[in-house]
Amino acid sequence: MKAIVYEKFGPPDVLQLKEIEKPTPKDNEVLIKVHAVHVNAGDLIARNLKNISPSKFHMPFLFWFIARASFGFRKPKTKILGNEFAGKIESVGKDVERFKAGDEVFAYVGQAMGAYAEYICMPEKGTVALKPTNMTYEEASTVSGNSMTARNILSKVNIQSGQKVLINGASGGIGSIALQLAKSYGAEVTGVCGTPRMEMVKALGADNIIDYTKEDFTTKGKTYDLIFDVLGKSSFSRSKKVLNKNGIYLLANFKSRQLLQALRTKIIGNKKVKCVLSFEEDIDSIKELVEAGKIKSYIDKSYPMEQAAEAHDYVEKGFKKGYVVITFNDNDQT
Ligand SMILES: NC(=O)c1ccc[n+]([C@@H]2O[C@H](COP(=O)([O-])OP(=O)(O)OC[C@H]3O[C@@H](n4cnc5c(N)ncnc54)[C@H](OP(=O)(O)O)[C@@H]3O)[C@@H](O)[C@H]2O)c1
Repeated sequence: MKAIVYEKFGPPDVLQLKEIEKPTPKDNEVLIKVHAVHVNAGDLIARNLKNISPSKFHMPFLFWFIARASFGFRKPKTKILGNEFAGKIESVGKDVERFKAGDEVFAYVGQAMGAYAEYICMPEKGTVALKPTNMTYEEASTVSGNSMTARNILSKVNIQSGQKVLINGASGGIGSIALQLAKSYGAEVTGVCGTPRMEMVKALGADNIIDYTKEDFTTKGKTYDLIFDVLGKSSFSRSKKVLNKNGIYLLANFKSRQLLQALRTKIIGNKKVKCVLSFEEDIDSIKELVEAGKIKSYIDKSYPMEQAAEAHDYVEKGFKKGYVVITFNDNDQT
């Protein structure tokens, strides 16, 4: 089978299309014929990890070290990227009960990666579910892992109908889903993103949009009950003046300084900092949210597997206007 392999860390052109052995499912595994894979932030980080210093990494040093230990110090341990994808079950191991050949699924394999390939095996009890019936493979590939992360993180802050929520990073993998979920909980949502992605953020339902390259949300005079800064690009010291009483400053990426702020604000003051790590794996309920129209996809571009490096280049240079996917087995959408 064909797979996009990288044998050294570096720029997009380290991604090479190669012929490798097709995997065989174990007794408890399904073999999935991959149709589409989301090019997400994790892929870009893992591809170039050697060149990302602890200070540029969005998490504390220990997390950087763990990431390097998992993905490799000198050269990549995991030679195939891709963790959010959709495809069709080709065959199943003898103990598999939940799936059968021909089922259309979407899945998330986390740090194990390996979905930039024509086929991938995963345990039937892994984060794999039947594909939402109202999405194509391409769309479904963009809403598995990030949806679980966004939902799990928001579950820690209990958004109420009518609350005012700002999402800094509303066009990204986590933020674009958090925006839609916050809307579905009845919040008024302000999305902050870069200029090329304003249309996407509007289409996903934001009530107000702020372009971070032109405006600073902390100086616009509007106040919020929740500020979810996905990458931690703002600061609590500046943001707290636009947080309402009992407001929460929520982070999915944080350094030790923000962890200390979280500890301090837990004890003192009525505005809290929360740093949250997500461990959710319930993908079946993501299918339900998608089918209920609460989570949508917004595809910008699809690249065939031969152009994986171009796909990474497009995303890395900040050109993308929505989600970018790589397609496999293009001639067989049956
Ligand atoms: N806490 C957890 O459990 C957890 C789980 C999974 C991942 N993560 C972490 O989450 C990160 C990836 O998140 P993601 O997938 O959402 O990333 P992403 O897809 O790269 O999105 C990043 C977002 O941040 C925005 N942004 C970039 N610079 C900004 C600035 N100066 N001001 C305001 N917004 C800015 C981007 O806007 P534009 O693109 O429009 O410019 C985009 O909306 C990784 O670092 C990973 O470690 C955390």
